[in-house]
This record gives sequence, structure tokens and C-alpha cells, in this order.
Amino acid sequence: MSEVTLTTLQAQKREGSKIVMLTCYDAIFARTACEAGVEMLLVGDSLGMVLQGHDSTLPVSLDDMAYHTACVKRGNRGAMIVADMPFMANATTEQCLHSAARLMQAGAQMVKLEGAAWLAESTRLLTERGIPVCAHLGLTPQSVNLFGGYKVQGRQQEAAQQLLDDARALEAAGAAMLLVECVPSDLGARIAQAVEIPVIGIGAGAGTDGQVLVMHDMLGLSLSGRTPKFVRDFMQGQNDISSAIAAYSRAVKSRAFPAKEHEFTA
Ligand code: KIV
Ligand code: NA
Repeated sequence: MSEVTLTTLQAQKREGSKIVMLTCYDAIFARTACEAGVEMLLVGDSLGMVLQGHDSTLPVSLDDMAYHTACVKRGNRGAMIVADMPFMANATTEQCLHSAARLMQAGAQMVKLEGAAWLAESTRLLTERGIPVCAHLGLTPQSVNLFGGYKVQGRQQEAAQQLLDDARALEAAGAAMLLVECVPSDLGARIAQAVEIPVIGIGAGAGTDGQVLVMHDMLGLSLSGRTPKFVRDFMQGQNDISSAIAAYSRAVKSRAFPAKEHEFTA
């Protein structure tokens, strides 16, 4: 695969070629995902749940994130590596700069921050220093205790408008990408239309510029036994993991995934 850069991702948005992103936490899955057509590898703090067995992402440390980012980097072949800023590693803007530097030096090419318009200042500071930022909006799992559970966001008109305003504010602050989690599909599409930067969705419908899933979810693996509505098990009809990931890449590109059954409504 030729190198995926911000330039190629922006061109994909303009041309309507859907961006394929998947979570990844180690070298062999990085290699496998690259060979299966995945364009962006997200070293998600979901590793706290699927690898470490915690019931939220809050216990994940910056050391954990740097370790897994370095593992992914060694297996990567041309995908763009995005690393999650873990809970409270960006509690102040100064901490944010140091934590982001750590992730970049471990091998990330972009850092993802959960939050809303309040992230504008750190987004601007990181961007000025050469660190591309992906802002994560909607259901931000680090705030699960505030939300009172993993709930669809932006269902009320006011909340939807707030998310649109946040998206525009973060684009203006220099964000290179947005990730929108668990919002009604029409809102996902409106956010993607409202900004020029690529918008990746998870549980945000078919109208975003790309899709991401947690790898274990799309391979049919679950610790809780519950599968979120927006997940499809790509092992169905496949004989091995490589084929399942390739089927996911094809389904995103061809717009077969997500389908109506994976979408939320307002
Ligand atoms: O940590 C993660 O895997 C994520 C995705 C669910 C978007 O942030
Ligand atoms: Na995350």
C-alpha cells in the first residue's frame, strides 16, 4: 500500500472514496490490516477494555498507549497511525503537549483527543507544533460516568446543533480530522457536510467520509457477550481473520457497510 497521508485522506473526502479505519494494538494485526486494505490504524484506548479487561477506558495510561503505538508502528506498512490520548493525559494544555509528543515519538502520525469545543486551544497548540489532531465527538467513552452509560448522543435538536458547532470550531482550530461516535445517521452526514476535513464515523451512519470499528467487535469477539447495534461480524462467511478484515475494507469502500440496521435515528 502506498503511504497514507493527510493529503491522500483529504483527496479521498473530495472524491467520495470512503476511508477505511480499524483499531489495532500490535504488530501482527497492523501488518494483517495493511495487507487487507485498511488505510488508518487507530491505537484506541479501547485496548483498556478488549486487551486489559477493564470495564471502561479510564484505567489506560500514557505508557500503555505509547507501548501499543510502538508495537503497531513496527508492523505498519503504509497506513496512517492514529493514537488515542488516554484519560486525563491532557488535563492541562501543557500536559497535552507532552503526552502528544510521547505518542508521536512512539510512532503515531496523528493524535486523537476526546472532547468538544473546549479542545480548540490544545488543538491549535498541537497543530502549530506539527502534530495533526483528530477530535473525537459524540459518545466520548472517557466521559461515560458523566453520560450515565454508553448512550447515543445528539438525539435532541439542541444537542445536534451543539455537535455541529463543535465540529466547526475544531476545524477552525486546525483539527485535521474528526471522529464521531454514536449519533443519529442524519446528524453524522450533516457533520461530514459541515466541514472540509474528513469525518470518520462509528455508529454514525453511512454519510460520514469513512468508518472505524474496534477490531475485536468486527471479528465477532466480545468479553461482555453484547454486540453494539452498529457492529457487523465480518467473520461470518469468512475462513480467517485476513479475509474478514478484507471483507470489512471492501464493505466500507463499496458503501455496503454500514447498512440501515447499523444506524441510529434521532
Ligand atoms: O478507542 C477506540 O477504539 C476508539 C474508537 C471506538 C473510535 O476511540
Ligand atoms: Na478511544
